[in-house]
Amino acid sequence: MNKLVITALFTLPFLLASGEANIDPAAGIAPLTGADFYDRGRPNTDQVELGRLLFFDKILSGNRNISCATCHHPTLGTSDGLALPLGEGATGLGPDRRVPADAPVAGRVPRNSPALYFLGATEQARLFHDGRVAKDPNENWASGFWSPAREQLPAGLDNVLAVQAMFPVQSAVEMAGQKGENDIATAAALNRLAGRDGVWELLAERLRQIPEYVARFRGVYAHIDTAEDISFVDAANAIAAFEVDAFRGYDSPFDDYLRSRDHRALTLDARRGMNLFYGRANCASCHSGQFQTDNEFHAIAMPQIGPGKNDGWDQSYWQATGFMARLEDHGRARETLRPEDRYAFRTPSLRNVELTAPYGHSGAYTTLEAVIRHHADPVASFNNWRPAAAQLVAVDHVVETTATGSQLRYKPVNPGRLGDYRKRDTWVMQTAALREQILNANELEPVELSDGDINDLTAFLRALTDPVHRDAAHLVPERVPSGLPVDD
Ligand code: HEC
Ligand code: HEC
Repeated sequence: MNKLVITALFTLPFLLASGEANIDPAAGIAPLTGADFYDRGRPNTDQVELGRLLFFDKILSGNRNISCATCHHPTLGTSDGLALPLGEGATGLGPDRRVPADAPVAGRVPRNSPALYFLGATEQARLFHDGRVAKDPNENWASGFWSPAREQLPAGLDNVLAVQAMFPVQSAVEMAGQKGENDIATAAALNRLAGRDGVWELLAERLRQIPEYVARFRGVYAHIDTAEDISFVDAANAIAAFEVDAFRGYDSPFDDYLRSRDHRALTLDARRGMNLFYGRANCASCHSGQFQTDNEFHAIAMPQIGPGKNDGWDQSYWQATGFMARLEDHGRARETLRPEDRYAFRTPSLRNVELTAPYGHSGAYTTLEAVIRHHADPVASFNNWRPAAAQLVAVDHVVETTATGSQLRYKPVNPGRLGDYRKRDTWVMQTAALREQILNANELEPVELSDGDINDLTAFLRALTDPVHRDAAHLVPERVPSGLPVDD
């Protein structure tokens, strides 16, 4: 008997019971267990609690005004509800975040703040939209990891999540602040990360001054005896332990289905959506495996908005406005330097995706339905995209940089030039040559999806939500050891 006949025989009772002519479309996907995560799902609870406090503590930002949680809040799907984040200097949380007149910011953060769900799975080996943090296969650096800090990255970091936690603190626009405002911002502007007067040591020194942190670090790490022994690597490992532990959970309807293989775990719509996802709609060719990601990079013609990453050679914005900026984001090619990787971004996991709007690496789509429709016909969706879709919060108080490196200075943007400044938000989408480049790079094939199909796919993606994350307010601490206010 061949394999097909055997499968058909086994599926027969299922068919008769349900009336659905289906072979399990997710047959190749095993249910999740603790073993799929770092610490085999059994973390050190004291380390997790220390990490939770650090994650919410604004003490880690140069001007003591923003924490990791501000952009990755558990009640906002571990993101911030914005297309593009407003970093240090801004006030408020989520869609209410604004830039006050007395604290001008250095612009928007160039990429959408990704959700942090399931990043503690050992298979999630490359972080950031372009994968610039990863295990270093060639062991070029003592740290064992590939990262923007190259040889400055210290040894002793537990995993890629811990490596990642070394970076937001040295980003001027995210957490450090502008050169001259505080010692951390100044060190960051000079790319002094490691060493006695580097960013990480300055932050460790702040933690050493807070007795509650000293006690907690001593309680977690055998190598810490006195305050002097604390390093930022210990803080990063604790933050990672918190992220691993807090941002997983496998009790979504889809998880129930994977464990029981009982189709009643899913609604009829979600079941049809699952069949499409793993079948005709071809989603699983990229969104594969237990987390709906191949952990690879693909160009799918996502609209680009915001300040970009200063990539490419297009100077049209500069010529039109006098602001010296290039607005493209070349994505994966920034890391590989291969032209064929331009505009490719990491396939995101789709678990809990209904909680993590807006979507895409620059947050150009506000709803799940819109981003699914983009996949059905990327070229048409890109061409029909209108700036109003992005819902960007107004940024009225900004500084511009004059010169770079040791000469770096900031000055407020003259109110008379704000109109020109704001044009950067949608410049790429309004520039024919740049639009063409993004469309030419697209590798996503269109697929015919009816309104009913879109509805079913949306229902399936909703079935990937673990209810525990719908209301995650319990993760927000009432207070943090620095005494600084907590975003809630
Ligand atoms: C101002 C907003 C902001 C703050 C504050 C911030 N992040 Fe992020 N985070 C982002 C953005 C934007 C990205 C994506 C950047 C990229 O891909 O280039 C990101 C990426 C990440 C990622 C990688 C996610 C993935 O899927 O690859 C992790 C993990 C993370 N942040 C954790 C943290 C931690 C820990 C802190 C505090 C130490 C922090 N973030 C502070 C905005 C922020
Ligand atoms: C060719 C690979 C590929 C295929 C096929 C594909 N996707 Fe995607 N998908 C991606 C990539 C890459 C991104 C992120 C793109 C970016 O940010 O520029 C993405 C983003 C998404 C997002 C937004 C997630 C977020 O957090 O921003 C959703 C939802 C999504 N895809 C659903 C689907 C569905 C449903 C299908 C099938 C109809 C599908 N995808 C088919 C590669 C693919």
